[in-house]
Amino acid sequence: MKKITLSDKQHLDEAVSVYKKARSRVALTGAGISVESGIDDFRSPGGLWSKYSPDEYATLTVFKRNPEKAWKLYRALGKSIIGKKPNQAHRILAKLEQKGLLQGVVTQNVDNLHQDGGSGLVLEIHGDHKHLQCLGCGDLTTFSPELLEQQIVPHCNYCDNALKPNVVLFEEDVRHMEEIYSLLHKCDVLLVIGTSARVYPAAALPEQVKAAGGYIFEFNLDETVLTRKGSMQGPGSDYFFHGSASAMLRIFADMLGV
Ligand code: APR
Repeated sequence: MKKITLSDKQHLDEAVSVYKKARSRVALTGAGISVESGIDDFRSPGGLWSKYSPDEYATLTVFKRNPEKAWKLYRALGKSIIGKKPNQAHRILAKLEQKGLLQGVVTQNVDNLHQDGGSGLVLEIHGDHKHLQCLGCGDLTTFSPELLEQQIVPHCNYCDNALKPNVVLFEEDVRHMEEIYSLLHKCDVLLVIGTSARVYPAAALPEQVKAAGGYIFEFNLDETVLTRKGSMQGPGSDYFFHGSASAMLRIFADMLGV
């Protein structure tokens, strides 16, 4: 693992040269990329899971048995997202895509900030918070902000089932895996940005790229289970951009002339 920081740019030229030679580059993002937009992540101190235990609030079982309780978490998540704007990190990824230097984004986030920041291809592996989903008849409707101030559990207009946000709960299948696998099939460089790399199958994607001979460029405030070879079953990041996503993407994009 070769570390790059704001004050020590050793290895930056090498990373940029690897990136320029690549034919296919993809970004895998997590909650950390949206922290600078004012959205708390999940596992950092004070994160959402410190307020709502995922086992107690974020599973499909809880939604089915006690939708009122589950909606306490959904409202907290919705309130943390509403009105937030993309930050420089989201905009840089969109610019890289527009310049043909990034094929697309696989995001674990449900905040829509990649799309708001101008990205075209965004695969939301954990769904989105823009819609309400009916598990009874499959209907999708828009998540209206008024819901955040009410205490009711919304019900489907067609089959009267309780509705949930269109986000993937624990115990639910993730989304878009076929498209994600084909996007990553020939990926030479995977930018892994703002994720603790703990939740599967998203956390297996860097291992898949590495096993196929691709490079892992990790952007994070702290080292993760992915950073150092041999920790957990992680492949180890080739370049670790140690700092905030926006600051480290800025120096990287500057070197690419973006
Ligand atoms: N810049 C870069 N990285 C940051 C920043 C920042 N400004 N702020 C926080 N981070 C990093 C943290 O160090 C941490 O490694 O972002 C990561 C956030 O990790 P998590 O909170 O675990 O979020 P994430 O990896 O997206 O979680 C994955 O878990 O609970 C589920 O569905 C949820 O999609 C989520 C999934």
